[in-house]
This record gives sequence, structure tokens and C-alpha cells, in this order.
Amino acid sequence: MAAVRTRIAFAFLVVGTLTVATGATRSQPAPADPALAARIAAADAAAGERLASQCTICHTLDAGGATLIGPNLYDIVGAPIARTAGYAYSPAMAALGAAGGTWTVELLDAFLASPAVTILGTRMGFAGLSGEADRANLIAWLRTQSAAPVALAGAPIVDATAPVYEAYQADRGRNYYGDNCGLCHGPTGGGDTAPALKGPAFQASWNGRTVWELFNYTRRFMPADAPGGLEDERIARILAYILQLNGYEAGPLPFRVDRASLEQLRFRF
Ligand code: HEC
Ligand code: HEC
Repeated sequence: MAAVRTRIAFAFLVVGTLTVATGATRSQPAPADPALAARIAAADAAAGERLASQCTICHTLDAGGATLIGPNLYDIVGAPIARTAGYAYSPAMAALGAAGGTWTVELLDAFLASPAVTILGTRMGFAGLSGEADRANLIAWLRTQSAAPVALAGAPIVDATAPVYEAYQADRGRNYYGDNCGLCHGPTGGGDTAPALKGPAFQASWNGRTVWELFNYTRRFMPADAPGGLEDERIARILAYILQLNGYEAGPLPFRVDRASLEQLRFRF
């Protein structure tokens, strides 16, 4: 027993330097390590998805997926450590879970680099991913495997094909757009007395900026003849329509009026 206790204590020590977050918050600060924050901000989730094939021998990644050799990993970023009831975690992993630890980006990055060194006594028999960019890409993709991806300040950031709104929102948005915006911006966003809300000039003006900025701009200044008069949900649907006009595809995740998550969505045209 003494030996086990020492190993658990050591796991805390090692992980303690990586700031194990406690509590149930689903929104995490930017990684304290600026280099890691930068890697996450530049990550390529599609490349991360390809790397996940190294995990699926032992883990399912879909919602409600079965336990294999390891526990299911759906919605793991920001989740409590050792959350799967009935799974026989190693004492080291179970102890971190019992202490209220969560899978922060920092901890995931360190764990995936070297599971055995980061959590001494883990049963995860995986050598580790040595490439820093590979780990950032994988974490970025794991984060998207969630009905409500955890907000990560300084994190990416979806590209133009990522699902950020549901089709019905864009459908309704088309009508709201027609009623409130089309008069000045043209019936399908091509521009009239006011600039186009699709196409090269619009995309050049918003490329690299966040969806939050567009939301906030619209909420404060539009419609120009009656600014501030639209409910947030209507603006969200109008923006879903504008995203669609600019080549973003609908997906399973709704466009949510939530500053933290909208700040994670950066336009990449
Ligand atoms: C050879 C099998 C194996 C492979 C490959 C593997 N894992 Fe694991 N993983 C496990 C086992 C077993 C556990 C439980 C570890 C423990 O209890 O100490 C685990 C646990 C985890 C946990 C903790 C889950 C929780 O509920 O807290 C994460 C996160 C994780 N693995 C991520 C990954 C990722 C990402 C990959 C791919 C890069 C991967 N694993 C590859 C076997 C594996
Ligand atoms: C009465 C006319 C009018 C209406 C109605 C109107 N707008 Fe505008 N909008 C403008 C004008 C004029 C500008 C340019 C403002 C400037 O350059 O300072 C503009 C600019 C914008 C921009 C910035 C475009 C860019 O290229 O950066 C967005 C986004 C926008 N409007 C969205 C909307 C939305 C969404 C609605 C409907 C809810 C709407 N507008 C309704 C007149 C209008």
C-alpha cells in the first residue's frame, strides 16, 4: 500500500506543475504556456482527426461509445478526469479524478506526449505522440467531438467547413434577413445601398476576425435605420444565413449566442 500511495502522491506532484483544474467549469482559460496556446490557436483539427486512428484501437470517440481497453473519449476536453462510472481506472488516474481534476489542454498535451511520465502508474499503454503540432491538432479535433465544445480562450477556431450552425437556423435567418436587412444589403446579401454581406470584399474585411465581432457589430449597429432592435436569437439566425451565403456548411451544432464560444470561431475564408 505504501508503494501505491507514493506513486499516487508523485502523480499529483508531476501533474500539479501542469495546473490540474478543479471544479465543474466548462470554460477554460488560455493555456498558461504561451507556446502551447499558440500551437492550439494554429491547430488543424482535420489533421488531428487522422491522428485519432492511433487512439481508436483502445478508445471509442463517438457519443455513447462503448468501453474498449480504455474508456470512451467523447467530449473529453475539459471533462472531469476518470469520469466513466464502472471503468477500472488505475489508482493514479482515479485519484486525480477523485481530487476533482479536469482534462485541461495542458494536461492533455502533457499526457499525450508521455502518458507514463505525466501520470505515473497510468494503465494507458501508449508510448506518446512526440510531435507538438500533432498533439495540438489532435486536441483541437477532440475538442470538436462534443455537443458543446468547451471554450478555450486563444484556441481555434473553425475553418470554413466546420459546422457552426444548424440548417433550420439559416432557413429562418433568410426570412429575418429579408425583413430587416435586404432593403439596404440586397435581397440575397449581394449589396445595394449598403455593402455586400458575401463575396470577396466582405470576406476580406472579416477574415481572421471572430464571429463574436460580427455578432456584436450587428447587434450594436444594425439594422442601420433601427439599431439595437433585434433579439439576439434573430441575429444568430441572420448570421447563420450570412455564414451560409459565405460558404459555411450547416452541421449538427447550433449557432449559440454565447460570447465565449463565438470568440472561438474565427473566420477563415
Ligand atoms: C493501447 C491502448 C490505448 C491507446 C492506444 C490509447 N489509450 Fe488512452 N487510455 C487507455 C487506457 C487503458 C486508459 C485508462 C488509463 C488509466 O486508468 O490509467 C486510457 C485513458 C485515457 C484518457 C483518460 C480518460 C478519462 O476518462 O479520464 C484519455 C484522455 C486518453 N486515454 C486519451 C487517449 C488518446 C487521445 C489516445 C490516442 C492518441 C489514446 N488515449 C490511446 C488505453 C489506450
Ligand atoms: C437602412 C440600411 C441598412 C439596413 C436595414 C441594414 N444595414 Fe447593415 N449596413 C448598412 C450600411 C450603410 C453599412 C456600412 C456601414 C459603414 O461602412 O460604416 C452596413 C454595414 C453592415 C455590416 C458590415 C459590412 C462589412 O463589410 O464590414 C454588416 C455585417 C451589416 N451591415 C449587417 C446587417 C444586418 C445583419 C442587417 C439586418 C439585421 C443590416 N445590416 C441592416 C446599412 C444597413
